Amino acid sequence: MIIKTNTGRCSVLTQYVINGGIPLRGSINISGAKNAALAILPATLLMEGECRIENIPKVTDVTLMLEILRDVGASIRLVDDNTVVIDSGGVRAGSVAPYEQARRMRASYYLIGAFLGRFSSAQVAMPGGCNLGVRPIDQHIKGFEKLGAEVQVKAGFVHADAQGGGLKGSPVYLDMASVGATINIILAAAMAEGLTVIENAAREPHVVDLANFLNSAGADIKGAGTDIIKIRGKKSLTGRNYAIIPDQIEAGTYMAAVTAAGGEVTLTNVIPKHLECITAKLEELGAEVEEDDESITIKREGKLRKANIKTLPYPGFPTDMQPQVSACLSSAEGISMVTESISDNRYRYVDELKRMGARIQVDGKVAVIEGVKKLTGAPVQACDLRAGAALIVAGLGAQGKTEVGGVYHIERGYEDAVKKLQGVGADIRVEDVPDTELLSAGQTG
Ligand code: EPU
Repeated sequence: MIIKTNTGRCSVLTQYVINGGIPLRGSINISGAKNAALAILPATLLMEGECRIENIPKVTDVTLMLEILRDVGASIRLVDDNTVVIDSGGVRAGSVAPYEQARRMRASYYLIGAFLGRFSSAQVAMPGGCNLGVRPIDQHIKGFEKLGAEVQVKAGFVHADAQGGGLKGSPVYLDMASVGATINIILAAAMAEGLTVIENAAREPHVVDLANFLNSAGADIKGAGTDIIKIRGKKSLTGRNYAIIPDQIEAGTYMAAVTAAGGEVTLTNVIPKHLECITAKLEELGAEVEEDDESITIKREGKLRKANIKTLPYPGFPTDMQPQVSACLSSAEGISMVTESISDNRYRYVDELKRMGARIQVDGKVAVIEGVKKLTGAPVQACDLRAGAALIVAGLGAQGKTEVGGVYHIERGYEDAVKKLQGVGADIRVEDVPDTELLSAGQTG
């Protein structure tokens, strides 16, 4: 399968070529948060009238979500690369979110919550095979059932139906602080009758952003950002203008890039508070970080030092930053220990880093990294979004030439990564893959 990307090229046929070892200097403007956009765009299905959403990142996952919304009947008008006006008046009950699109993006499961919320029924293809290990949606389903929906998975589709009595607010206790389940239950509950209380809710910034968006449209959601979220259903919500928050993980990735390559870079359009867990870890590695209101400056001059990492739900260290920081640790002095406690399969980049000379041993959830003096450039393959980001980080810090294949994974979540890095002096370019080896598209997010 060939995917059209945000660079307008067919990224299965392209690779990023990096000549590493050049310190980065200058500034990078951070785009809107992919994972907030992937929740807020389907939330527009709940709104009457037009919603104007600003600061959407120009990444292929967002393009795909907009395509799905258009296919189910929403009117989508792109005002510019980062602004869209959506009117979901034309969406009809019974519209089906198709397999071909849903399987390509895990966040398509938000259509279940949004359709249920608006029409009391939903038919959405199950998000397809997954490359981050087993990622069930049992907590989402439990939440919908608590609200009174009957949920069945058959013939590859999730069918959720509450048309008999409509959705009714209810307490929902999540077994784990799942980001996806928290967002999906908020979407379903925003217009349900009565009070829904989500306990052990996820606290990630994009959960808060979704709640802020819905509240700006007339919803009554309290406690987002804590582990208890209370949603009192409203009869109707009205479309509004809303600007999505900056992308915590994109910013963190460029912070890791500076940590690996050295130099000094200012990141603009960030919320420093969201970056604290990443900042603290990179400071342990030897970076210096200065915060301003909406920007941060990161500098790394001395040697990289070892550090231990354990991924945790927000405000802990994010699983979406584990590969990039592990790439930095690969050339840090000493032995570092990384524990991945969120995702099952987030070490697939390790074999690629080993091609660059990294010494890493993985045993289940734990990776032991023995830092080497310098990584050396090599041809490597991105196998998912953050793995791809880690290979860029590694390539920028390495000696010699790194060719990163599978860049369509990267373009699902990073807007103009090559241009942004070139802007701070990195020697990185997009090239056609000489020996074309077509890879089938995976999924992410
Ligand atoms: N889980 C269950 N049952 C559920 C839901 C989750 O067992 O019903 C488990 C998962 O299998 C996983 C863990 O709980 O092991 C965390 O899953 P969560 O639901 O929190 O993650 P998600 O909603 O599937 C979102 C992001 C991911 C990010 C995780 C963790 C989106 C679209 N995706 O996924 O982002 O890694 O939260 O923070 O928001 C990425 O951007 O690269 C990415 C993978």
